[in-house]
Amino acid sequence: MRWFSHRAAVAAASVLSIATQSQVAVAESVNGNAVVANGTSFALNGDNVSYIFHIDPATGDLISDHFGGSVTGAIPAAAEPIVNGWVGATGRIRREFPDQGRGDFRIPAVRIRQSAGYTISDLQYQSHTIVQGKPGLPGLPATFGSEEDVTTLVVHLHDNYSSVAADLSYSIFPKSDAIVRSVNITNLGEGNVTIDALSSLSVDLPYEELEMIYLRGDWAREAHRERRKVEYGVQGFGSSTGFSSHLHNPFLSLVHPSTTESQGEAWGFSLVYTGSFAVNVEKGSQGFTRALLGFNPSQLSWTLRPGETLTSPECVSVYSATGIGGMSRSLHRLYRKHLIKSKFATSDRPALLNSWEGLDASINASNVYQLAEESAKLGIKLLVMDDGWFGNEYPRDDDTAGLGDWQVNQAKFPDGLGTLVNNVTALKAANTSTPLRFGIWVEPEMVNPNSTLYHEHPDWALHAGDYPRSLSRNQLVLNVALSEVQEFIIDSMTRLLKSADISYVKWDHNRGIHEMPSPSTDHAYMLGLYHVFETLTSRFPDVLWEGCASGGGRFDPGVLQYFPQIWTSDDTDGGERVAIQMGTSLAYPPSAMGAHISAVPNQQSSRSVPVEFRGHVAMMGGSFGLELNPEELHEDEKAALPALIQLAEKVNPIVLEGDMWRLALPEETNWPAVLFISADGTKAVLFAFQMRANIDNSSPWVRLEGLDAKAEYRVDGGSVYTGQTLMSMGLQFVFEGDYQSRVVMLDRV
Ligand code: DGJ
Repeated sequence: MRWFSHRAAVAAASVLSIATQSQVAVAESVNGNAVVANGTSFALNGDNVSYIFHIDPATGDLISDHFGGSVTGAIPAAAEPIVNGWVGATGRIRREFPDQGRGDFRIPAVRIRQSAGYTISDLQYQSHTIVQGKPGLPGLPATFGSEEDVTTLVVHLHDNYSSVAADLSYSIFPKSDAIVRSVNITNLGEGNVTIDALSSLSVDLPYEELEMIYLRGDWAREAHRERRKVEYGVQGFGSSTGFSSHLHNPFLSLVHPSTTESQGEAWGFSLVYTGSFAVNVEKGSQGFTRALLGFNPSQLSWTLRPGETLTSPECVSVYSATGIGGMSRSLHRLYRKHLIKSKFATSDRPALLNSWEGLDASINASNVYQLAEESAKLGIKLLVMDDGWFGNEYPRDDDTAGLGDWQVNQAKFPDGLGTLVNNVTALKAANTSTPLRFGIWVEPEMVNPNSTLYHEHPDWALHAGDYPRSLSRNQLVLNVALSEVQEFIIDSMTRLLKSADISYVKWDHNRGIHEMPSPSTDHAYMLGLYHVFETLTSRFPDVLWEGCASGGGRFDPGVLQYFPQIWTSDDTDGGERVAIQMGTSLAYPPSAMGAHISAVPNQQSSRSVPVEFRGHVAMMGGSFGLELNPEELHEDEKAALPALIQLAEKVNPIVLEGDMWRLALPEETNWPAVLFISADGTKAVLFAFQMRANIDNSSPWVRLEGLDAKAEYRVDGGSVYTGQTLMSMGLQFVFEGDYQSRVVMLDRV
């Protein structure tokens, strides 16, 4: 039996340190009972979650006890495993940081190759430290919070045979029911060691049936939700593309087979990283489920010289007893408040018009200005000039040339960029005195061989000796691990942003990694990229930055640290977007999604969807906009746009700050529905959709969730119903035809 004290904080100092497990008999409680340690046992407690582990006195190993609903007082010890086969005791227990080579045959969280060639480790508890607040991670994006928001426990492990130390850092955000873990590996020996594998999080859950939920996709069909049984053996996914990728997202959820959107237990794991990654779920022979999220071992091979440290990215874990929806809302709240650094995280996202689908790369000063004039007439507040504006010796007329040469093309913009921006920002959005803002597209990590940059610096592109450099979209990737490349990007973007009144940047990235000088370039690139992001976003805090990678190829928490929004997909078909945006919302707040109305037939799917449906879907994203040339629209579509823009502006604050309730999923019904409830609970907006015409049948009621049962709500300025009624009975809509939709406002009376 172990015991966790729930007395109020006893620590006057903000940093407590315990040298050995035997020294401390009295439990320490820090920040209320956010972290409770008694020297051999540790508990992290949130409002509705407890995460508990202890030190095995015989081996110094860290043993997991519990990750789930709140635990109070004494906890029962796990039964001693009966060792009766050739899987030894270490293969029959739940371990916090499984190392390699000593009888646990499941996937290890760390594999260290010593100079002698061994890959064995024996990492034993040495001491621990508790810190109020959360220290940053050197060079990596990380969640943050004040001393009241978060408490951090660092457990120091040491391998006496190899002189390698590992620090496991656990931070608890009690209000978000979130525990964040990262790992430091330090070489304290005299020879080099190589880290071949390192997971930020490894969690062993007890013997029970579980299912895994994750996001898969490809270009223009990102974030499709998959759910399947966790089978005996290893199952997993990841990315080896050098970025988080369209193919899989660095996110995993584990649930019980009976868990639904609104009921049951759900664990969510989200890796705060943008590079290649690996997620593995292993159900071992004893029935425990181990989940690991971290670096992709095929692209790590990280050498540590004496005294050096490798810090893993951090992994966020949340627990929900209120289904998959509860898990998502915890992640959303955490990310809005404790991950996204931009001042625009939950505010001021102007309705925009992006030139890409309307004009392609065929842009010049006159057609961009015309687009701006048309935009202003519709009530748009920000004009974004996409690809095609740069390159002189190698003009960017299409995707074969120009990347790397970040100077405005003088033939297309004879009076320069500054003049165009001044002209655009002199326009006023219809019926307002709001000046139009100007935004610009860049893709700074890339180079076309047809560019001045490549001719001057061919060595800056990724390459491995004389191996041919594989082109994709006619471009190569700059080796952002090199400091001269980082400086080039920082300098050229700084020059661009100082050259005109630019208030928005769309930062694109349109291909995967290719020939690298070594596997470790993958992570070195990320450290370089984060340095570039950090420098530029702190230098230009008033710029609204948008991430993009051929759509949502880099929709991850690493990017969100610096950019408050990401272009969700190049698929702008409203019908397809319902699933893409609802899938993305599994892990990421809708505030972070860019979503636009484009023209029909849609450029990706050739489908024609009514403009209202396209608009309603787009306004579920925090950054609403248009991606079309208004001059080419049908008159009735054009006429519908001002009202849609106004409605988007009305619902935007609720989408940016509020909680999202996925009421009905597109993969399960013809009538997907989503409810957003404002942070203070006084307003809500319901989106109800019909995907396909439902001939001569009735339509289902949409039951609302998350309202205050006792409160009353006025629906669309008319009838008043109680929250209880709206949640028990719901609202019903009559739809006629394919792709129909309704947006309904609720005001608490
Ligand atoms: C890919 C992006 O996802 C598009 O929105 C557009 O910016 C193009 N690149 C431009 O090349």
